[in-house]
Amino acid sequence: MVKKLVAGNWKMHGVSSDVAEIRAIAEGSRQYPSVDVALCLPSILIHRAVEAVPGFAIGGQDVHHAEKGAHTGCTSAQMLEDSGARLTIVGHSERRDAQRESDDEVRAKAEAALGIGLDVILCCGESLDVREGGTAVETVLTQLEGSLPPALAGGAELAIAYEPIWAIGTGKIPSIAEIAEMHAAIRGKLQERFGAAGIQLRILYGGSVKASNAAEIFRIENVDGALVGGASLKAADFLPIVAAAGL
Ligand code: 13P
Repeated sequence: MVKKLVAGNWKMHGVSSDVAEIRAIAEGSRQYPSVDVALCLPSILIHRAVEAVPGFAIGGQDVHHAEKGAHTGCTSAQMLEDSGARLTIVGHSERRDAQRESDDEVRAKAEAALGIGLDVILCCGESLDVREGGTAVETVLTQLEGSLPPALAGGAELAIAYEPIWAIGTGKIPSIAEIAEMHAAIRGKLQERFGAAGIQLRILYGGSVKASNAAEIFRIENVDGALVGGASLKAADFLPIVAAAGL
């Protein structure tokens, strides 16, 4: 069985006074060595967090695809790595929407991050219209077709996060059968792209994961962890989700 990964996405939350909470999460996570735990933080907080919790996996939430250059306000993979990050999210729907990131751009970001040795959590997911229109699986597979890197880089790990847009921050989640269907389809796509290696890649579920629904979600086949937004901000909310992944 694949070791589960529970990653928190702090989005645009977190200032220096929140390092105490990061420390509480890192220390609490040590009780669950059978689970990989990570926090993806605002880039400006990464270095401070890495110094506060050495050994704990801290990541970014986005990365620019270029190595360096005239890209005002952007962060390169090397910068993330240099700040002590071990991983990064790419292609979150909030960026695909607000920053109009295309599949091509997401793929380039994933390649840049993997190329420098950062693990990548690549997000995909459908809108409510698409879900209600009955084409969620095709839509997500098309998104992955365009966003997945052509090959896996040496040491760095690629994970996929399936995050239905309508489940993010809403308290709604798909049915067990819908999650199972989507994760199985994603697994198929990973095997098609990467062969046998695609069996090992972790597929996370994200969208309104909480202590109250985590155990049920983690029991679904091909669910290898979670990407958690709101419930990752406080150790008291996040650690029970980590505990559920260790069951
Ligand atoms: P919530 O857990 O707040 O629904 O957010 C999910 C998410 O977008 C994680 O990347």
